[in-house]
Amino acid sequence: MDDGSGVNTTKRNNYQPESSVATTKTLYDTTHTNNEVSELLDNSQNNYSSSSDEVSYITNFTNTILKECGFISGGRGSGKSRLGMLLTNILLANGVMVKVMDSSRQWLKHSSVPTYYTIPIPKYGGYIAYWDLPNLWNTIYDCSRLSTIELTELVKGMMKEDFQEAVTLDEQGTPQRACYIFEESQNLIPSGSLRRNDYQEVNRFVTQGRNYGLSYIAITQRLATTDTTLVELSGVKFFGKVEGENTVRKAKAWVNKKLLETSRDFPVGRFIVQHGTYAKIEQFPCFETLHKPQRYIEPKPEKKGFWSRIFG
Ligand SMILES: Nc1ncnc2c1ncn2[C@@H]1O[C@H](COP(=O)(O)OP(=O)(O)OP(=O)(O)O)[C@@H](O)[C@H]1O
Ligand SMILES: [Mg+2]
Repeated sequence: MDDGSGVNTTKRNNYQPESSVATTKTLYDTTHTNNEVSELLDNSQNNYSSSSDEVSYITNFTNTILKECGFISGGRGSGKSRLGMLLTNILLANGVMVKVMDSSRQWLKHSSVPTYYTIPIPKYGGYIAYWDLPNLWNTIYDCSRLSTIELTELVKGMMKEDFQEAVTLDEQGTPQRACYIFEESQNLIPSGSLRRNDYQEVNRFVTQGRNYGLSYIAITQRLATTDTTLVELSGVKFFGKVEGENTVRKAKAWVNKKLLETSRDFPVGRFIVQHGTYAKIEQFPCFETLHKPQRYIEPKPEKKGFWSRIFG
């Protein structure tokens, strides 16, 4: 089977993000001096613990995500996507390459990822879906036209390809610094899927990818139907307003119960941040980029003149 990626070359965009948020100093800036960090920590409210987990999460957000990956969950309209965009902007600003799998088309409108590519409906060989796509980094793959099955096939193929490339780069001594963003990750990695044979590539990516500089941030509104292993593997977790008893029950495995109860009334943009033993409530700004993503235009094959067609 074609693995779905049909990818030959990796194109990297050199990118300097600019956004309305990036200019304001937040806890997520990685350029704070030690004094500034302690001032921000002193000013922060609802600080439930203080530990090295807190310091490493705040002072070195990019490396923490690269090493430990991230997970964002919350009810409908709780601000998950905008938070994902804010975190992605920080990663981009720190030289991390990103690839966003998005079916909601929200990222095309509000994020600072420079390029987007709309994935066409695949060709079929029997039951097998396949594509011939460019492998692009710093790009949103707009998956809105795909069925859930097509989407998972696509992601499996991409992960296989990117994992192999990351291993090669690591062998050459230039390790990858890359992060996948999975919007609506309950569709991509649903409950129990990581144990399945046909998910081996995804399993390898999420469990071992970080050894080769491949990380992810998963975003979901349905914590209860997302694979538990995925949540467990994610070092930095953000929990927004919780909806539904199932979600509350599941979230109790990871979140301080007292904090979780308060999250039922969270306004949009407010999240519990959890990293190791560190847990705190934070209100995030509403991310809006100044530079909307541009459609990726595939380079046309070079037209050959009459003589070069004859003589090669
Ligand atoms: N931090 C924030 N502060 C204030 N308003 C916000 C914030 N984040 C998002 N919003 C507002 O809430 C709306 C929904 O945000 P967003 O799309 O990020 O939520 P979501 O949780 O991803 O929603 P969905 O469940 O539909 O995917 C945005 O269009 C924006 O107007
Ligand atoms: Mg969303």
